[in-house]
Amino acid sequence: MSADVGYGRGSLARMPLPPPSPTSTAVVTGASSGIGAELARELASRGYGVTLVARREDKLRELAAELSGVHVEVISCDVGDADARATLFDEIEQRGLTVEILVNNAGIGTMGAVVKSTPDAEIAQVRVNVEAVIDLCTQAAAQMVARGRGAILNVGSTAGFHPFPGQAGYAATKAFVRSYTEGLRVELAGTGVTVATLNPGPVRTEFLASAGMDERTFAAAFPKFLWMPARDVARVGIDALHHDRGEVIAGRPSQISTRLTQIMPRRLLLTMLAKAHPALKRDRSARRGPGTHPALDR
Ligand SMILES: NC(=O)c1ccc[n+]([C@@H]2O[C@H](COP(=O)([O-])OP(=O)(O)OC[C@H]3O[C@@H](n4cnc5c(N)ncnc54)[C@H](OP(=O)(O)O)[C@@H]3O)[C@@H](O)[C@H]2O)c1
Repeated sequence: MSADVGYGRGSLARMPLPPPSPTSTAVVTGASSGIGAELARELASRGYGVTLVARREDKLRELAAELSGVHVEVISCDVGDADARATLFDEIEQRGLTVEILVNNAGIGTMGAVVKSTPDAEIAQVRVNVEAVIDLCTQAAAQMVARGRGAILNVGSTAGFHPFPGQAGYAATKAFVRSYTEGLRVELAGTGVTVATLNPGPVRTEFLASAGMDERTFAAAFPKFLWMPARDVARVGIDALHHDRGEVIAGRPSQISTRLTQIMPRRLLLTMLAKAHPALKRDRSARRGPGTHPALDR
């Protein structure tokens, strides 16, 4: 289920997903687990050759072995590293392929109070969630516009629709993804290149563990009906490109809850989120000894 939450479709010339071809590839970053692996499976099931990108090459190779009937490439790349990103598209070209579809899915998130985090951790998530998206979109858009066709899908989050105490930096990176992708979509209208944002609500993946968060604690804080399987989320994302929908939220429950966050008084919403966020609760209960901090003592 999905909803076009951006501008009206009718205002832009429709640009569907380019058809598969033996010399083109769909690059999926963060394909070694979770939503990214499912996005790659979904593309492959529709006949698209895929280039699987992430740091853990062994995981990418496992997925590559599973995908049949399409051409699969594996490239180990830290998309948070500018030097590694600079050679990614050249590497693909050297393998005789053009990037017809780019899926910026790789993402990480810090969780908990910013005062408990480190500048390195906060900036690392900006490098992966923001810098890599800008860099790869800029490279891909130039190639795609020159060819007169292509598709770009950036993975945002429902957390990108409002500030999120407990995931302040992460939510801000996803707000960036939404804004940037919407602007890029309008810029590329009429060029033959379609652009979309996929905003998932909560999905069981390795994301929470990578953020150092216990999944059971986190799951208890978010109603069951909001959780969606990664496979269904991936289908919504690729459908968004296929039907040129622009921006989508995966799943009716997340569409409704996100809508509610837009109409609720902001102060009330943020107070509720700050009280309920499991990582902030964890940080509050872990506080020991003298001294106070307003962010944790509320
Ligand atoms: N799970 C959710 O509830 C949820 C909700 C909304 C949005 N999202 C978004 O969905 C996307 C996918 O997340 P997920 O839930 O599927 O999490 P996940 O299972 O942890 O997958 C994250 C992927 O990103 C890759 N990655 C992380 N850092 C990277 C780096 N520096 N370079 C290259 N690849 C990197 C990881 O691969 P390696 O570790 O092998 O590099 C992994 O393949 C993210 O953008 C996330 O923000 C997730």
